[in-house]
Amino acid sequence: MSQKSIQNELEYTKHVVSERLCYYEPPKNKLQKTFVEELSSSLNQKQKSIHPKFFYDKKGSELFEEICKLPEYYLTRTEINILTQLYEKLPPHLNGDFRLVELGSGSAKKTRIFISILERLQKHVEYFPIDVSNILKDSSKKLRDDYENLRVTGIIDSYESGLNFLKHYDHGNNLIIFLGSSFGNFSYENGLIFLQKINSSMKKSDLFLIGLDLVKDKTVLERAYNDSQDVTAKFNLNVLSRINSELDSDFNIRKFAHHAIYNENQNRVEIYLRSLENQTVNISKADMTLRIKQDELIHTENSCKFTIPKIKEMLSTTGFQIRDIWYDEKQHYCLVLFSKND
Ligand SMILES: C[S@@+](CC[C@H](N)C(=O)[O-])C[C@H]1O[C@@H](n2cnc3c(N)ncnc32)[C@H](O)[C@@H]1O
Repeated sequence: MSQKSIQNELEYTKHVVSERLCYYEPPKNKLQKTFVEELSSSLNQKQKSIHPKFFYDKKGSELFEEICKLPEYYLTRTEINILTQLYEKLPPHLNGDFRLVELGSGSAKKTRIFISILERLQKHVEYFPIDVSNILKDSSKKLRDDYENLRVTGIIDSYESGLNFLKHYDHGNNLIIFLGSSFGNFSYENGLIFLQKINSSMKKSDLFLIGLDLVKDKTVLERAYNDSQDVTAKFNLNVLSRINSELDSDFNIRKFAHHAIYNENQNRVEIYLRSLENQTVNISKADMTLRIKQDELIHTENSCKFTIPKIKEMLSTTGFQIRDIWYDEKQHYCLVLFSKND
């Protein structure tokens, strides 16, 4: 399938911002249809849930940036600390020119480390961010302005659709990065399916680098998701405001509370919205009336924590070989570089 036909199949519109920056976007009505369909289904289950990708409207993306600066949220600064080791440690793995592909690029601050590494090694750098959030438009512009030899092609869509597009793009080498512990949002089973999907969209010469949070003390974990300034609570509750404004619903934010606990059996932080009373909510655009009991939990996110044996097992069962693993001093977090099996 050609690049043009996959663009047509995904119904993307190409926006050319300048010679070195363009992005592809699905039609607005398609995005809203997905939102309505997924939400109607997930809120109709016995365990009500809202998919975490819906956190990231403009306000949600801004709140996530605030979370990254919180003293309790060790993940961002720990990952950045390991990333700085890559100036020396990544180049030996790069054979030839690479395009940088980023899943869930967000504000693309960590991306700068990779662009700096690549621009030392090659004449031009091509960057391919994939993110459901419109934040991609601003972060891509900033990067284009700051790096003369950078060309950006963004996809404002889900990881899976972005990977489909990339698969048909060209024969160049891709260095795919997936940072911020976002892989931890998948359940174990869906994580394996996702890794298989990535494997099938990679060429032999491609590399994949992932940032994963490791199992650690329960108090450190629970503090990271229950910060003293309640920014994580605002981030969690904001998804209800987003549903109110985009799908015409009447969630009363004051009738819900943020709830995050570490499930030691499953090695994951589970995040919920807890209903403070018996209540009824109407979601007009989904044609739905929700009855929610006092103390009922709406699941909004899992953040899985990993052990090294588990990571190795997941990667080998999905057809990958590990090239290298890098840690911080406390072994709280790791970056894993891998490629497809021969
Ligand atoms: C936890 S933030 C991480 C941002 C950045 N990579 C970092 O490490 O700071 C997750 C990012 O992925 C995007 N995202 C979440 N779920 C997604 C999905 N299913 N498909 C595409 N993007 C997604 C969000 O919009 C957000 O920008």
